[in-house]
Parts: sequence; C-alpha cells; structure tokens
Amino acid sequence: MTTRYRVEYALKLVTSWLIEWIKGLLAVPFVLHSQPTVVFHEESLKLAAVATATQKRYAEIMRDVELLINDHIDHHESNRPGKSKLKLLVPAVGQFFTPLLLEDAFIYQDQRRQISRRRFVAPSFNDIRLTLNTAQLMGLVRSSEIRLITFDGDVTLYEDGCCLVEENPVIPRLLRLLQLGKKVGIVTAAGYTKPHHYYVRLKGLLDAVWHDGTLTAEQKNGLIVMGGESNFLFRYDQSAPNRLSSVPRSEWMLDEMYTWNDDDITNLLDVAEASLRECMSNLNLPATVLRKERAVGIYPLKGQKMHREQLEETVLVAQSMVERSEVGKKLPFCAFNGGNDVFIDIGDKSWGVRACQRYFGGIGRSMTLHVGDQFLSAGANDFKADGGRISGQNGMHNSLDS
Ligand code: IMP
Ligand code: MG
Repeated sequence: MTTRYRVEYALKLVTSWLIEWIKGLLAVPFVLHSQPTVVFHEESLKLAAVATATQKRYAEIMRDVELLINDHIDHHESNRPGKSKLKLLVPAVGQFFTPLLLEDAFIYQDQRRQISRRRFVAPSFNDIRLTLNTAQLMGLVRSSEIRLITFDGDVTLYEDGCCLVEENPVIPRLLRLLQLGKKVGIVTAAGYTKPHHYYVRLKGLLDAVWHDGTLTAEQKNGLIVMGGESNFLFRYDQSAPNRLSSVPRSEWMLDEMYTWNDDDITNLLDVAEASLRECMSNLNLPATVLRKERAVGIYPLKGQKMHREQLEETVLVAQSMVERSEVGKKLPFCAFNGGNDVFIDIGDKSWGVRACQRYFGGIGRSMTLHVGDQFLSAGANDFKADGGRISGQNGMHNSLDS
C-alpha cells in the first residue's frame, strides 16, 4: 500500500493532471515564503508567523481552485462543457458532480500534516490528494444528498488478498451508514459466481449485519455486493445460508449490457489470454493463467512474486492487444494490476456502480460516492468507477501512495 500504484508511465499521467497542476500553484508561495536558512531554535517566532502567512496563501489558492471548479460545474450544467476556464487550464479534467470544499479541506489537512510549517518539502502530490478527498467528503456531507456509497474490496476495506474479518474497524462504520438509510455496495473486481466465496471474503461484515438487532429489514436490504467489476450482483439476505443471494440479471443490468453476448465475451477473453501468455513467456513470469466466466488473469506461482514493472508491462500489453482487436471495440473491459496479479475483466467498475444505482431504483451520480484504492491510472480498476472524473461518480482515493 505504499508506492505500489504510483507508477508514472505515460498512460498513468492522465488522471493526476489536476493534482499536479494544484501542486504547481502551491509551489509558488512555497518558493517565495519558505525559510530554509532560518535557524529553528533562534527564530521560532518568526517561523510561526511565516507559517501563518503561508497557510493564508495556500488557502487562498485552494479557494480560487474551488471557485474554478464551481464555474466548471456551472458550465456542465448549462451544457457548455469544455468552455470553462478550468478546462482550458487543465484539459484532461473531467466532470465534477459535487462542489469540492478545497479551502476548508486544506485548513483541515494542514492542521494534521503541518503543510505550511514545512520549510524544505513543498506541498506534495499526497498532500493534495488527501485534501481533495477531504474536500469531496465535506462537499457531500454538507449537501447531505449522498444515497449510495460503494467501496472497493482489496486494499480498501481489507488488505490485498485478505478478508473482511470481524475485528475490522470499518464494520461499525458500514453498519452506521446502513442505519442512516444509505445504500452500501461493495464493488470488487473479485469475480465469483457463487455467494459462498463472497461470504468467505466478507464474513465479518455479513455476520455483523446478520446479528445486528437495531437495523430494520429495509436497512439490511441496503447492502449489496457487485463482483467481477460489473458481472455478478448479490444482495444481503437474512435467511440465506451465506447471508447473500444472487440477484437475477434482469433486476440490475443496464440496457447496454444486453448487447454483451457470450461469443464476444469468449473472443475478448481469448485475445486477453493470448496476450497474457505472450507476456508470461516474453518476460519469463513465474505465473499461471486463471480463466473465469467473465475474466482472465495471471497470478504468481506459490512462493513467487512478480515485479511491479512486469505487472505494469503485462497490463499495458494486454490492454493494447484487446483495444486493437475487433471485439475490444465492442465490449468494455478493464485490464489492471492487482498488486501481485493482472486481470482483464469484462466490463468495469463504472458499469458496476451504475448497475448498483439502477438496482436501487435509479440513484443519481451526484448522490453516489465510490471509495477505492486504484485511481491513478487508466489501467487501475477504481479509476473507471470515478472515471477519473470522466465517466462516473464522485470518487475518493483511499490509500494510494500514503
Ligand atoms: P478489488 O480491489 O476488490 O477490486 O479486487 C481486486 C483483486 O481481486 C485482484 O487483485 C485479484 O487478486 C482479485 N480477483 C479475484 N478474482 C478476480 C477476477 O475475476 N477479476 C479480477 N480480479 C480478481
Ligand atoms: Mg482494490
């Protein structure tokens, strides 16, 4: 969970434009006001005054960016996307569904991270990422419109490849969301067709909901699990042996998904599998192939690990091979580096989150928040749920590079 996802290949730069741009704006007051030559113990009063002035400058910049984002939202709402000043300044920027309270969020993060008191280290990518997260939450909480919160599984609710166990501190928080009448979706790439596998992974949460005597039946029904990015939906079921039951596709599939036919799915997975095998041989990967109903992937042989570069290369090769195939132009897919494996899934989390919205009767994008760990790259699976602010919902990066 440290720097694993912060790999800056050309493709990966797209979504970090906004953060890099803000970083550049904050670098100016840092350069002009920081006092690297002052001796700390002799001039601490002076340093405190400088920190206060620097915080004021940083906060003003954040306020200005906040206003630019509001203006960008207005342009979208009046059908003039692309004409905003923010779009001119940061061409890669997508759509925002809620205001970001950047000034307040900066003050909050500054109190925790002492950003304006630093004299040698300028506001970093990570400082800004966390400020954006806080700003997103503040915007949603203050508008109190949020109705659906979706969470990624691995590296978000639990450690990579692990399970959501009883002691996990997220459990009472998830129960609280349900108690407030919010809908909660776990939208994971992990693609299993049977409830039992999800029960094993999510046992702590599912058992806690089952035992909870304060939640009403309706509140408990607010919990769903979308597996395989957008392929298998399960709802909480108090009377099912695994606490989950499969939801028929007719109850949640989006209209466009009906065009995903079995032949195309097989073809796409064939192309993806061939490219994975090519990488295994070309890069001498200590891995084996796993073919599933709606996915194909490679995972390491027992006791082995693949290098980050090998994983990234494999993702990019598979992605480009599928994109260049006929079927890759017809079917959406998601190729990503899962930390120690690579998967190509049919569909992606933007479809998964939208299907959850549909299942709950059509919850709007501005009322949805997706929390995940993979947002930095076109080949990261949570990126698609938020669309890097291209196609999706509000999104929060939970643990990137921290
Ligand atoms: P997520 O972080 O909850 O989206 O889960 C991603 C992880 O699920 C991957 O890194 C894989 O280790 C695992 N996984 C298991 N089955 C699948 C699958 O069918 N597609 C993609 N990932 C899978
Ligand atoms: Mg994850």
